[in-house]
Amino acid sequence: MTKNIAVLEGDGIGPEVMKEAIKVLDIISKKSRIKFNYSKALVGASAINEKGNPFPDNTKDICKSSDAILFGAIGDPKYDNDPKAKIRPEDGLLEMRKFLGLFANIRPVKTYNSLIEYSPLKNKILKNVDFVVFRELTGGIYFGEKGISDDGNKAYDTCVYKKSEIERISVLAFNEALKRNKKLTLVDKANVLSTSRLWRQVVQNISKNYSDVKVDYLFVDNAAMKIISNPSDFDVILTENMFGDIITDEASVITGSLGMLPSASVGKDISLFEPIHGSYPQVAGKNIANPMAMILSSAMMINYSFNMGFEEKIIIDAVNDALNNGIVTEDINDNTFYKTNEVGDWIANRVDQLIK
Ligand code: IPM
Ligand code: MN
Repeated sequence: MTKNIAVLEGDGIGPEVMKEAIKVLDIISKKSRIKFNYSKALVGASAINEKGNPFPDNTKDICKSSDAILFGAIGDPKYDNDPKAKIRPEDGLLEMRKFLGLFANIRPVKTYNSLIEYSPLKNKILKNVDFVVFRELTGGIYFGEKGISDDGNKAYDTCVYKKSEIERISVLAFNEALKRNKKLTLVDKANVLSTSRLWRQVVQNISKNYSDVKVDYLFVDNAAMKIISNPSDFDVILTENMFGDIITDEASVITGSLGMLPSASVGKDISLFEPIHGSYPQVAGKNIANPMAMILSSAMMINYSFNMGFEEKIIIDAVNDALNNGIVTEDINDNTFYKTNEVGDWIANRVDQLIK
C-alpha cells in the first residue's frame, strides 16, 4: 500500500529539518508494507519568491490529493520588519488552515527526563508534566474582520466565534480527555470577552455528555501563570486560536527546548503535522537546527493518519535514545553537540535497528 505525503518544507530551517524527518520515514517505508510517496510543494516566503503567492494553486492541489501533509516552518524577517508588506508568508499558512478545514491544532507538551536540566524551571516543578493543548485554528481574531482606516490612524481586528466552531473542537478535546487523565481545562477570558462566554456556555453543555471528565475553567492570564508554576496540574487544555498560540509557545519552554515539540492540525479531512518551532531564520542553512520536533511530527503523522502506532513508538524510542546518549544539537547541549544531519542519521539508524 502506498501513502502519499505532501512535503511542504517552507522557510528558514524548514528544509533542513524536513530532510532528517524524511530520512527517518524512508527507513520506516523500507521496512514496512506501507510505502511512502512524497510530493514537494512550495509554501510561505519561498512560494512568494517563486510564484508571488504564499499558498499557490499547485500546492493546494498537492495537499488535497495527499493522504497527509508534513509541514516545516513559515516566516521570513524581511516581512516581519515591513508592516506595510502586501503579501506575507504567514498568509499562506492561514489560508492553508482555512482551505483544508484544519480546525484543531493539537500540541502535546511532555518533559523528557534527559532534558530536565535544560529547562529554565526547577526540577520539582517538572515532574509528571504531560498535557496536551487543543487550540482552535480557523476562527477567532485570526480570521475575523480586520482593517485599517484610510488615514492610517485606526486599525481593528475582530474576534468572532460560532457555536458550531466551538463545539467541533470541544468534542475532540473531551474525547481525548476520556483517553487520558479525564481532566479538561478551558482557557478563556470570560470575565471580559463575549466570545469567551460563548465558549464557556458550549463547553458546559458538552460536559453534560462527559460525566467522567472533570472540567475546570481558567482565565488566560491565570493560566499563563499556572503553566509555569504548576504545569503538572494540566491534562487537556482547550482554548481559542490566539490564546492557544501564546500559551503553547510558553508551554514549549517547559520541556527544555522549543526544538522538541511536534503538533498535529486536524479537521474535516486531511491532517497536517508540523513542529511548533518557527522558521528560525538566524540559523537557517547552518546545519545546527534541532530536527527532533520535525521527526516527532512525522511520527505523529504515521500513527494519526496511517494507523502505524507501532512505528510511531519506534521513532519516539529512537529520539529518546538519542537524547539519552547525548546525540543532540546545540540548543540542547552547547558543550557537546552534533549537527542537524548527524542527529538525523543517528535516529534513522536507530529506527533501522529497532524495527527488526
Ligand atoms: C503557529 C505560528 C502561526 C500562528 C504564525 C506563523 C501565523 O505562530 O503556528 O503557532 O500564529 O498560528
Ligand atoms: Mn505560534
